[in-house]
Parts: sequence; C-alpha cells; structure tokens
Amino acid sequence: MKLTLLSLYMIFVVPSILAQTMSGTSCVCDLKDSEPPFPMEKLQNVEKAATKCTESITSKQMLEVDALLLGLNRRLSQLEQQVGVLEREDDGDLYGAVSLRIIEIELAEILQLVKKLNNTTLHHQSLSSNTLKELQAMTAEMEELEKFDHTRVVSKQRENQRLKRELTECRDELQATPLPPTPEPGHCPQGHLVNVTGPKTNTGTEYGTSYSYGAWGQDANPPAGKENWFWLVALTSSNVYANYIREYSSLSSLIAAVKVGDVVIASANPTTNTIQGPNVVMYGDALYYGCYNSHSICRFNMTQRAVTTVSLPKDSGFNNKFPFCHLQACYVYTDLDLATDESGVWVTYTSPDSFGNVIIRKVEAGSPPALGRTWNTSLHKRTATNTFMACGVLYATRYLDKETEEIFYSFDTVTGQERYDLHIHIKKPYTNIQSLNYSPRDRMLYVYSDAYLLTYNVIFE
Ligand SMILES: *[C@@H]1O[C@H](CO)[C@@H](O)[C@H](O)[C@H]1NC(C)=O
Ligand SMILES: *[C@@H]1O[C@H](CO)[C@@H](O)[C@H](O)[C@H]1NC(C)=O
Ligand SMILES: *[C@@H]1O[C@H](CO)[C@@H](O)[C@H](O)[C@H]1NC(C)=O
Ligand SMILES: *[C@@H]1O[C@H](CO)[C@@H](O)[C@H](O)[C@H]1NC(C)=O
Ligand SMILES: *[C@@H]1O[C@H](CO)[C@@H](O)[C@H](O)[C@H]1NC(C)=O
Repeated sequence: MKLTLLSLYMIFVVPSILAQTMSGTSCVCDLKDSEPPFPMEKLQNVEKAATKCTESITSKQMLEVDALLLGLNRRLSQLEQQVGVLEREDDGDLYGAVSLRIIEIELAEILQLVKKLNNTTLHHQSLSSNTLKELQAMTAEMEELEKFDHTRVVSKQRENQRLKRELTECRDELQATPLPPTPEPGHCPQGHLVNVTGPKTNTGTEYGTSYSYGAWGQDANPPAGKENWFWLVALTSSNVYANYIREYSSLSSLIAAVKVGDVVIASANPTTNTIQGPNVVMYGDALYYGCYNSHSICRFNMTQRAVTTVSLPKDSGFNNKFPFCHLQACYVYTDLDLATDESGVWVTYTSPDSFGNVIIRKVEAGSPPALGRTWNTSLHKRTATNTFMACGVLYATRYLDKETEEIFYSFDTVTGQERYDLHIHIKKPYTNIQSLNYSPRDRMLYVYSDAYLLTYNVIFE
C-alpha cells in the first residue's frame, strides 16, 4: 500500500473532511470519530478576532497582523512543497487523489486567510512582495494540478477554476508594500543569536548505537556539588520510553562511559509517570519530561526520587499525535518539547484548536510545578524538526538535508514578533536530530543525534 507520508501529514491537518473522503478504505489509522470536525468555525473566530483588530489598531495588534502575514507566507510555501511532492509521487492511485483533495482544502483555507488579511490590512499596507510572488506561483501550480486528476476520484475542476480566479483576484487586489523590517529577536545581554558552530563535542554513548532516541545535557540550574555533572536519558524501550536517568560527574567521564549511577523513576518501563518522548530537560536537580501516556508534564525530583505532574490542556497532543516532522518522516512521540533558557523551563506543544501550530508555555518551577503564560505562534509544528529557547526567544529548526539542519524560525516572547527568515545552519555529522536544547550556563546546544551526543556553540552578537 502506498500511503505516503505526505498524505499522513495532511490527514492530520484535516481529519474530519478526510473521514468523509476516506470512509471505507483502509487508510483511516489516525481518524477517530472523537476527532473534532474540521475547525472552520475556529478559523472564523480567528477572522472575527482579526477584524476586531482593525477597530482600534494598537501596536500590539499590528504585530498580530504581521504574524498572520508571516504565517500565510509560510503556509503558501509549504503548500507549494506539498504540491511538489505530490507531483513527484503521483502514480494515478487513490492516495495521489486524496492528497490533491487535501491540497484543495488547504488552499481554500489559505484563501480565507488571504481574504481576512485583505480586510485587516486595509489600514496597514504591508503584504510582502513575497506573498504576491507565492500567490502567482500557486496559480501556476493549480494549473499543473488540474492536468493531474487522472483517477477522477476528485472531480473538482470547477472548484479549481473558482479558486484560481480568486487567487488571481487576490493577486491583483493586494497592492503590496514591503513588510517593515522587524527587529532582531532576543534579549540576551550578549546580543542576538547569529550563528551556531560545531559540533564541538561528538561522542557515542555507552549504549553504542542501540538507542537512537534520547537526550543529554547539563542541569541548567544545578544544585551545589553537581555543577559539572552531565545527565543522559536514552529511550530504551521502542525509541519512545525510558524509566531512568544516567548521571556522570564530568564530560570526560561521560565520554569514557564511567557513570556515577542510574536514578530510577520506576522499575517498569513504561508505566505511570515514566518518560515518554525524547525532548526532556534537567533543571534544579529535577528532570522535566512528557509523562507516559498522558498530556501532562512530569517532574522527577532527583533527590526526593518522586514525581509531581502538571497537566496541559485536555486536547494537547500526546502519544505521537503532533510530532516534529520533515517531508520524509516524523520524529516519533515528540509531542512535548521541554526547554531551558536563562529564565527557567519552557514547554512547546500543540493542539487541534491551534490548527497544529506551536504553543509556548512557561513552566513555573515552583512546588508543585505550574503552567505560566501562553503564547500562540503561527509555526505549524509538523514543519519543524525541533525547537529550543534562548533568552526568551523560541527558535525552530528544519531539516534541509543529511548534512544540514537550519534554524529558520523565531518567536520572541517579549515582543510577540515572529520571523521565518532566519537562515542559521547547523552542520550535522549524523542525519537526524532527535532532541535539541539550549544550555544557558555554557550557551551551547546539546543535541542527541542518531545515538550520538553533540554540542554546538551558539554565537551571539
Ligand atoms: C471583509 O469585510 C467585509 C466588509 O467589512 C465583510 O463583509 C466580509 O465578510 C469580510 N471578509 C472576511 C473574509 O473577513
Ligand atoms: C479586498 O478588500 C476590498 C475592500 O474591502 C474588496 O473590495 C475586495 O474585493 C477584497 N478582495 C478580496 C480578494 O477579498
Ligand atoms: C557561521 O559560522 C561558520 C563556522 O564558523 C562560518 O563558516 C559562517 O560563515 C558563519 N555564518 C555567519 C552568517 O556568520
Ligand atoms: C526536591 O526535593 C528536595 C527534598 O525534598 C527539595 O528540597 C527540593 O526543593 C525539590 N526540588 C524541586 C525542584 O522541587
Ligand atoms: C491562543 O489560541 C487559543 C485557541 O485559539 C485561544 O483560546 C487563546 O486565547 C489564545 N491565547 C493567547 C495568549 O493568545
């Protein structure tokens, strides 16, 4: 069966509509009746909110318009990529047709967004020329798509025509002036993140290459006596689960595989409150991670050897519902990404309500841990391979090729500004990055990559 990753990806985006298209086929693995219908009303809510914006434009609200524009730009280029993949993969079978239908849906959604922006940007002439170019490209792509409908499973020619017309109208209508330059993000005393060099450290683990998922690092806020210690968590069961943390008293002992010992969360793996997913962090002598089979964050106190939990909102993704991905594959069970920076602990995740876009939450490391402020981003989680925080700015990476990962996106939690135009490359000795976190103490990125442990220097300017 040729079930492309592309169609899997998009099944996730529009579950209910697909449920209609696909009922009676075998390709319904992720479609549950409990799924909410395609959230068109949510989109309308967003639209209403954006319309309200224009009533009294404050500078904060202007930023929201900018964010929408950035999100739109991004989605258009994603859509183009998806169409590109579809073109390469089409063999006239059902899945090609299904993908085509999904692309149509995606396109209709984007058109709505464009219309909304047309409305909200009347007072605010700032649609970037890039968007116009993308729209032109999309019109051409849609023409290509039409030639494509071999199977007639989707006979939507007329709708295509209409969409094409609307696209052309949009393009003609929206007289663009370039986006005002957005300031560089970041509030580090040492400046902005401008480059990543390395890897500096590149070492195997004492497990060999048995476990391709895991994480490692230094405690971002270590207790006295453990300042030089390192921790390592390998997901020893199914690339998904772990039940203990291995500690080393220095980097050289880690490289030499001389451990201090293992701190065990529970004797079974997996079981309630053990580790699920690779993006875990250590802060204040406690490990923060996604709890097994739950939409909660667990904190395991290394001295007390006890777990406390804090729940994310009920519809938040877990159990591999919203993983990080690139076009060829997803990183399994990466629904929750814990992160540390100068200000403490953060978590990113997503939910159907946010269309699968990344949500940032501050985690208050008090007792018990609690959730702090929330930020909604326009970053579609499946287009990122990982995220990290530095100086209150979220950065997201994507997979360029086997040798290169790119930091392409940032969200500044202080100003609310988003950027999709960062082109900071990370050189990779190994193909995949399963976890990535910033260490505020040494300003390095700690990376777990296909069972190897890497560090990178982060350059601020
Ligand atoms: C745009 O604004 C017009 C007039 O204010 C309104 O009728 C229309 O519904 C709006 N369209 C969208 C997509 O928000
Ligand atoms: C954009 O807005 C203007 C003014 O409200 C309207 O006349 C035009 O039809 C809109 N264009 C699109 C593509 O929605
Ligand atoms: C980033 O660092 C690398 C390695 O030192 C260097 O080759 C590259 O030119 C730097 N890029 C920028 C944008 O400074
Ligand atoms: C862990 O437990 C110890 C001993 O009860 C306590 O002093 C410490 O504050 C706890 N750490 C966290 C992060 O809750
Ligand atoms: C984020 O989005 C959700 C769902 O659309 C909304 O309910 C919430 O108020 C938003 N939060 C913020 C801080 O904008």
